[in-house]
Amino acid sequence: MVKITAIRGFKDVLPEETPKWQFMEYTARSILANYGFREIRIPVMEKTELFTRGIGETTDIVEKEMYTFIDRGEESLSLRPEATASILRAVLEHNLHAVNPVLKLYTIGPMFRRERPQKGRLRQFHQIDAEVLGSEEPYVDAEVIALLMHLLHALGVNHVALEINSLGCAACRSKFREAIRIFLDAYVHSLCPDCIRRSKNNPLRVFDCKVETCRESLMNAPVITDYLCGDCQSHFLRVQEYLSLLSLSFVVNSRMVRGLDYYTRTAFEVTTDLLGAQNAVAGGGRYDGLSEDLGGPRIPGIGFAIGCERILALIKEEHTHNGPYLDIFIAALGEEAQKFALPFSQLLRRKHIKVETGPGGKSLKWLLKQADRTGTPYVLIVGENELNAGSLILRNMKNGEQRLISTSQLEEAIMKILRSEQN
Ligand code: HAM
Repeated sequence: MVKITAIRGFKDVLPEETPKWQFMEYTARSILANYGFREIRIPVMEKTELFTRGIGETTDIVEKEMYTFIDRGEESLSLRPEATASILRAVLEHNLHAVNPVLKLYTIGPMFRRERPQKGRLRQFHQIDAEVLGSEEPYVDAEVIALLMHLLHALGVNHVALEINSLGCAACRSKFREAIRIFLDAYVHSLCPDCIRRSKNNPLRVFDCKVETCRESLMNAPVITDYLCGDCQSHFLRVQEYLSLLSLSFVVNSRMVRGLDYYTRTAFEVTTDLLGAQNAVAGGGRYDGLSEDLGGPRIPGIGFAIGCERILALIKEEHTHNGPYLDIFIAALGEEAQKFALPFSQLLRRKHIKVETGPGGKSLKWLLKQADRTGTPYVLIVGENELNAGSLILRNMKNGEQRLISTSQLEEAIMKILRSEQN
């Protein structure tokens, strides 16, 4: 029979790798809590319309990359390609903004995009996503960016560059769109068919194109920052002022447009030169019109998402604890020994000791080898003769030393030894 394997672009996280994930998630959760963020958990699947309206019908994500299906001939559903639209949907659905006009929410979980898998690019990947809803103030933009940089720093990810831009409001964008349309008309012969289509439907999306000739044509294209209205310009300047106040270094990249249509004003990306082609480790921005696009009231928002797999590739081993996962292994030889080991291991576990009892019917040699594989520092050998004689052997796996401990004092002695080991 042919073996069943995982889907292309969908990856297992094996037990050796999970300590790194736990370190990342734990660090993220505690720092997000320091900034007043609370966790929200949203479904992995939504009505497709949420993403077509939220992210934009003519974005690559919606046009090419969503896992969409018709549920039993009735309704079009999609696996979420990102979390922002879902978080806003949940806020509107549960009226969270009515109770708390400034919401700080985060979620950690898998996202799905049907991109061509390659190093650093998966079809199921994970994001740490944080959103602030209810404020337009530029200091919030600076604080959100500061949080992102703080988080990356706490994870030991330091070789990164922060780029920012302003994408303006609807008014600036429509002037800019027109300028791009006129500019593209002159290059129509050197554009790929996708960009010809984009230049008509959604000219800003030409900046997502990976085709070399299109990229070259766009070198002299107008830039959004030249089309910002007075309010957007001063918002952007204040964001920069606050970032400097926080001693955060950044570069203004006026060609950065981001791949989702909901952005307004501040947009940012964090890149690294340590990962090759897939160099974006995090991205985000403001989306002051998204709530209205989803049928809600005006709720300005800003947030970011960190790509977990890309961050994990940068987290050094020394930042994670990958030591033995057991404190003690019990090698029980025979049925009577197992009858002793079963309740005894429960007793230790209730005292927060990590215990595993080896399987029955195995030799001592086999059990010691198995104990060694777990990296456990101690093995309690429970032989039937020793049990009847009232004392058992505790073996120190590091130096091979063995000591005989009376069963009546076993729990106390083990606790004492393990505690002194932990200190
Ligand atoms: P995004 O830039 O599409 O933004 O994704 C954020 C991050 O997710 C990227 O910088 C990258 O690290 C990671 N990522 C994206 N696609 C893949 C993939 N196929 N494989 C591995 N990692 C990937 C958003 O998703 C927005 N929702 C961010 C946001 C939140 N904006 C406002 N609030």
